[in-house]
Amino acid sequence: MLPTTIIAKKRDNGELSPQEITDFINGYVSGDIADYQMAALAMAIYLRGMNATETAALTDAMLNSGVQLTWESPFPAKVDKHSTGGLGDKTSLILAPLLACCGLQVPMLSGRGLGATGGTLDKLEAIPGYRTDLSLEEIRHLTENVGCVITGTTPNLVPADRKLYALRDVTATVPSIPLITASIMSKKLAEGLTALVLDVKFGSGAFMKTLDDARALARSLVATGKRMGVTTVALLTDMNQPLGRMVGNAVEVDESIAAMQGEGSGDLIDVTTALGAELLVATGKAASQGDARAQLQGHIASGAALAKFEEMVTAQGGNLALPRPVASAHEVGSPSQGVVSAIDTEQLGLAVIELRGGRRKMGDQLDLSTGIEMLVRVGDRVEDGQPLARVFAPSALAEEACRRMQAAVRIGDQAAPPLPLIVDRISS
Ligand code: URA
Repeated sequence: MLPTTIIAKKRDNGELSPQEITDFINGYVSGDIADYQMAALAMAIYLRGMNATETAALTDAMLNSGVQLTWESPFPAKVDKHSTGGLGDKTSLILAPLLACCGLQVPMLSGRGLGATGGTLDKLEAIPGYRTDLSLEEIRHLTENVGCVITGTTPNLVPADRKLYALRDVTATVPSIPLITASIMSKKLAEGLTALVLDVKFGSGAFMKTLDDARALARSLVATGKRMGVTTVALLTDMNQPLGRMVGNAVEVDESIAAMQGEGSGDLIDVTTALGAELLVATGKAASQGDARAQLQGHIASGAALAKFEEMVTAQGGNLALPRPVASAHEVGSPSQGVVSAIDTEQLGLAVIELRGGRRKMGDQLDLSTGIEMLVRVGDRVEDGQPLARVFAPSALAEEACRRMQAAVRIGDQAAPPLPLIVDRISS
């Protein structure tokens, strides 16, 4: 069938057959279907949605677009965590080595920044020499010998997502439940996992703005994991303000290292240990959530998590001893006295894009030295002129970024009562 016929069918709200979806994805990967045709179908899917059968077919087509990781033995259990995307979300950098310290193996295939949200690979590339383009053999070797690896998909692992992810980023087609489900689950299923935990974010800095949408996405992701025989749990976590203090690339690596030295902010450590505990319990490495959290915290306190992170970075060609440049800091003062009533978190992500810490179009080179440090949280009382944040930016871009920052932090008389950080848990 012609690509235009398939695009038109979805545009007109028709149901695509598994064969049509497979043909389209295969055509896109082989180059027979152009970026602009894939962009049109992505937009039609974004606007019209997909039912569960179509979403399953899309996930399978993407998964089967390349090879998959296989393991000689299911032991130690292969596990991973994936986030649907947020700001300041550096949990992967801390969690992968932590899980390896607990005796699990983590073949983590991560992505780049998407929309206003940051990407694990971009952050790690702020470490001089760090390679995110490991081969299948290298991924297998490091998983089995170091215990964890964080890299991108190889050209032959889920090539469909590699192309489609970059295209969606620049065509405003990210926040779609079927597209996110297929993107995340095709990558995760290709890892040959025993258990998977998902951090599904909701709020002003997430693709899913409402809790209801996030819950629907979590159900779709968990159902896909179940269908494919992978124990899958999703936590719904708040993204109405950045996680931790730093947003950017080099600055988030610095904050992750501080967290592994025992200096992590409460919210960052809470989400990281809650996600890790799910995997320890699911694989029988811990008898209870409490036991799991104690193990994870013990590996931070002993320095084992940081040592494992260093081992992974070195194995991937990186050097933590070399400087990771951070642009000069500019303070953003509060325009008035009051209470931080809300933070427009998406605007913070857009400010980082303006600072070239994220992409405007496919292939943009990033300035990994830029970013933001939040000095206040929702509910904090502030004085007139009190610093709300620091912007790390070259002087030429700093003024505009500080202006955006100031507009993104709302100062009012009072804040709404805070939601818990982890609002719900969805399991199969
Ligand atoms: N993370 C992914 O890997 N894919 C998406 O579509 C969104 C978040």
